[in-house]
Amino acid sequence: MKIAVNTGGGDAPGLNAVIKGIVLTAYQKGWEVFGIKYGYRGLMDTKQIVRLTPETVWNIADVGGTILGTAISGDPFRYTTPQSAVETDISDTVVGNFKALGFGALIAVGGDGSLRIAKKFMEKGIPVVGVPKTIDNDICLTDVTFGFDTAVNTATEAIDKLHTTAKSHDRVMVVEVMGRYVGWIALHSGISGSSDVILIPEIPYDIDKVCTRIRQLELLGQDCAIVVVAEGAKPVGGDITVAEAKQAGSEIRLGGVGKKVAEEISKKTGKETRYIVLGHLQRGGAPTTFDRLLSLRFGAAAVRFVEAGKFGMMAAVQSTEIVAVPIEEAISKMKSVPMDSDILITARALGISFGD
Ligand code: F6P
Repeated sequence: MKIAVNTGGGDAPGLNAVIKGIVLTAYQKGWEVFGIKYGYRGLMDTKQIVRLTPETVWNIADVGGTILGTAISGDPFRYTTPQSAVETDISDTVVGNFKALGFGALIAVGGDGSLRIAKKFMEKGIPVVGVPKTIDNDICLTDVTFGFDTAVNTATEAIDKLHTTAKSHDRVMVVEVMGRYVGWIALHSGISGSSDVILIPEIPYDIDKVCTRIRQLELLGQDCAIVVVAEGAKPVGGDITVAEAKQAGSEIRLGGVGKKVAEEISKKTGKETRYIVLGHLQRGGAPTTFDRLLSLRFGAAAVRFVEAGKFGMMAAVQSTEIVAVPIEEAISKMKSVPMDSDILITARALGISFGD
């Protein structure tokens, strides 16, 4: 048995641990594993395929990023090149190369976009097993995706440090975190980092209510405040803030809401306000122990699913178990923060404002 593995979409801490889990588990079964570099690019230009042996992966579980490289653009169904922005479907070439190389299965490690591509290849005859990756934690049917815990830890640590300046200067510090259209990173890090306000895409905010909370804190003797803003947060009746419009073959880039919120707070409260965008720091560095273990488990489970012929399925964690769920269902909608989430209820009980 020869299996192929690729990593697609934005990098996330834990990708290398998944690769290690796959390679070592497959090795024990006497299978061969090949890494497809840069998402699907390696199946278009087959010089970009590398053999993965236990020696190549034994010490990578604690290393951030992906030894295979990844690509956000490069969807073979809507392929563009630096020379031409015209989207072309070159998926037949990918399927042809996959078969010619004698692969029996593809383990696709990626977020919703990459898993959507993987599902289309499944429909074209490639036996696929998925592994859910994203710091945003927005994939359904899995309690959590790998990479999320590390991102939350990084954001929490940053918020902890921002308390210092906030307190010393009686300032409002606005921290913009990632998460695209969901507020998981903002919610988890905002509560854990003792922030006063958290703005998430699921709850459109009213800037006047945010400012009211900051003034209330002053009356209670707290002259500083920490406001955590998810990049996808939007005001009531308004839109998300876009840093860069959608280009051919890629997604829109969110960003800028932290600056906007900071300027409004400063204007309305008269308080000295600063903002910081944590950006890709949240995707970098070594995965936490939680993410390493989850990633190794996902990798090992993906190989078991291949052995059991569970194609079209994705490894997911539900409670303490790793289970197989249909890729189609997992990507059918985004996993947003539910309004009855205990975490949200806890935040409100702690006096955290959501600007609503
Ligand atoms: O999906 C992961 C993520 O980090 C989002 O949180 C963020 O909006 C996006 O990717 C950033 O992508 P890029 O690395 O292309 O700027």
